[in-house]
Amino acid sequence: MTAALIDGKALGAALRARVAEDVRQLKESRGITPGLAVVLVGDDPASEIYVRNKEKAVAEAGMASFPHHLPANTSQDELLALIGRLNADAAVHGILVQLPLPETMDAGTVLMAVDPRKDVDGFHPVNAGLLASGRPGLAPCTPLGCMRLIQEVESQPEGLNAVVVGRSNIVGKPVAQLLLAANCTVTIAHSRTRDLPDVCARADILVAAVGRPQMIKGSWIKDGAIVIDVGINRIARPGGQSGLTGDVEFDAAKERARAITPVPGGVGPMTIACLMANTLKAAKER
Ligand code: GUN
Repeated sequence: MTAALIDGKALGAALRARVAEDVRQLKESRGITPGLAVVLVGDDPASEIYVRNKEKAVAEAGMASFPHHLPANTSQDELLALIGRLNADAAVHGILVQLPLPETMDAGTVLMAVDPRKDVDGFHPVNAGLLASGRPGLAPCTPLGCMRLIQEVESQPEGLNAVVVGRSNIVGKPVAQLLLAANCTVTIAHSRTRDLPDVCARADILVAAVGRPQMIKGSWIKDGAIVIDVGINRIARPGGQSGLTGDVEFDAAKERARAITPVPGGVGPMTIACLMANTLKAAKER
């Protein structure tokens, strides 16, 4: 079987267009313009690119952008004070603190300071708890994007074996919760898992979120599986150039899978689209 490509770029653009239309209607009917504050501390080059893309998407969706780019020597207390002001600002419906934070800060403390109702990243323990207990809240954007991509291929994933490789709070754990909520039979595998190839080979749905280039081999993929590759790894290419590759050995995996996401152009664009959707949701619920 040669896999169909799941086009995250097109699906992300379609979702962003729907959000933009909803934003237009929200402004017209209730006079509310959803607003997102993006907080970046320091000058990590990858984070600067991510933040620029997020702020561009905010403007394109017709939302209000509140950028806060702070120097690397900002103290944690100064950052907490800014978050306090954003929590109190009625024009700000969503707050995103770009990670990683400088090593001088404790990310857990900073993320806990964000009002859970404005936590459009879904990283606050209150939102993690709501997700784990199957109650409405704000779920993290990359896992939401993964689910939309899976549902594009399989609208009723109920009963399927889903294997998530990776157990981060940002992707692995929340995507496992969303798959469970969709009635999949869920396994979370990680760096200490024994017989990882065998675990992967049972997956009707495989979500790879380990952050290691092409660690998941094509030969581990079950025939006809849906493969969602969350990895974005920069690697050296012949000729001294660099390129992006996922966590899955794409060329071999696509010969076995039913559908697979490319890197880039798979999960990445969905993350930003889901951030826009979460910001709209936060604005509607205020
Ligand atoms: N750094 C890498 N991914 C993310 C994300 O989804 N949200 C935030 N805030 N920071 C990140």
